[in-house]
Amino acid sequence: MKFFIDTANLSQIKEANDLGILDGVTTNPSLMAKEGIRGTDAINQHYLTICEMVDGPVSAEVLGTTFEGIVEEGKKLALIHKNIVVKVPMIKDGIKAIKWFTDNGIQTNCTLVFSAGQAILAAKAGATYVSPFIGRIDDGSWDGVQLISQIVNIYNTQGFMTEVLAASIRNPLHIVRCAEAGADVCTCPLPSILGLLKHPLTDLGLQQFLIDAKSMQ
Ligand code: E4P
Repeated sequence: MKFFIDTANLSQIKEANDLGILDGVTTNPSLMAKEGIRGTDAINQHYLTICEMVDGPVSAEVLGTTFEGIVEEGKKLALIHKNIVVKVPMIKDGIKAIKWFTDNGIQTNCTLVFSAGQAILAAKAGATYVSPFIGRIDDGSWDGVQLISQIVNIYNTQGFMTEVLAASIRNPLHIVRCAEAGADVCTCPLPSILGLLKHPLTDLGLQQFLIDAKSMQ
């Protein structure tokens, strides 16, 4: 399973990248706005900076919702860097645009996916990635990881090439369960990635090893 970081924060991206386990980055308009980025030039520059930091796919989301608008924006985003993946919402015009991008060799990430039916449509349009939002599904008392398993099963059965990118990750257990469910990619906030490191027995064991190591000197 590939690890993407789900943020537009440059210092968090650097911290995850320095671990040596980062395969890519996803952003969305809320994450970009949180960093105080305003205006097309600043947005494009920010994506370029991320692409120069991380050697892997970087999802950049379109802001338009019409077929023509999404295609125009996506073409410009794709020109920023070869690793840009155009992120497109799961709407009717979005599906049309994903098909257009597929036919024109531009990589896509179909976002805001909450059902297996939506995931089938994204795959039929040739999306490179499909992003089911598992945390937001859990928020409504449904099981987000169950949806990941269902989509993985459908894609394997049907031979769809679209990669399942588990999004809206809220904790380290989500990452573990997505790995079990066969997700191709998990896009995570930094605290969820760092949470994977934690175990009290590791801390206690190391504490004792350090004490014993000192007694040997
Ligand atoms: C990623 O592609 C999504 O935009 C993101 O994971 C959404 O996460 P949230 O539900 O925590 O906002």
